[in-house]
Amino acid sequence: MSKLILGILASGNGSNCRAIHKAITDGLCKAQIGVIISNHAEAGVLQFARENGIPAFHIASEQFSEISEFHAAIKNCLSQHQVHLVVLAGYMKKIGKPILDIYPNRIINIHPALLPAFGGKGMYGHHVHQAVLEYGAKITGVTVHFVDPEYDHGKIILQKAVEVMEDDNVESLSARVLKAEHETYYKAINLFANEYAENTF
Ligand code: GRF
Repeated sequence: MSKLILGILASGNGSNCRAIHKAITDGLCKAQIGVIISNHAEAGVLQFARENGIPAFHIASEQFSEISEFHAAIKNCLSQHQVHLVVLAGYMKKIGKPILDIYPNRIINIHPALLPAFGGKGMYGHHVHQAVLEYGAKITGVTVHFVDPEYDHGKIILQKAVEVMEDDNVESLSARVLKAEHETYYKAINLFANEYAENTF
């Protein structure tokens, strides 16, 4: 039976991408990775893709004179690999409207806090955990949500809470949240994979 095909967009090391791949190989996630795209040529996630025989491409807006050409390149790459669901995994670029338009409710992101708290422009990476600690929040967590034109704004799909410890610093908190991300993202993807299997996707 054919599986839900993922197109993963990532900018960095791609630990979430690796966790999704592991969940798939462990039989916990009923999808397959069709393609990985990064805006950084040297991104660890591209290296990982090549080592694992996954089609991998460096596509960045700087390579094109017009933004429309960049959007067309991303769209072509996703459609050539027959992607059903676009998965942002540490992708540090905003998704343009032309891409949102062809994947309505089919682009998801993971954020390292419980949205709508600690989200929005500038809230990424250690900035999120720093803000959580400065605010004195006792609970933070992970949110998987649909992507819409606003940062960290689309409807929530899945959340997992993570306790903030008295002696946490940015490093310890981000490591605990990242672990929760790895345990959560593939479960959100499974919701789509189940719909796909039931022909309701
Ligand atoms: C994660 O914390 C994710 O929530 C955020 O970017 C980070 C990416 O980490 N969107 P990695 O590249 O998957 O390790």
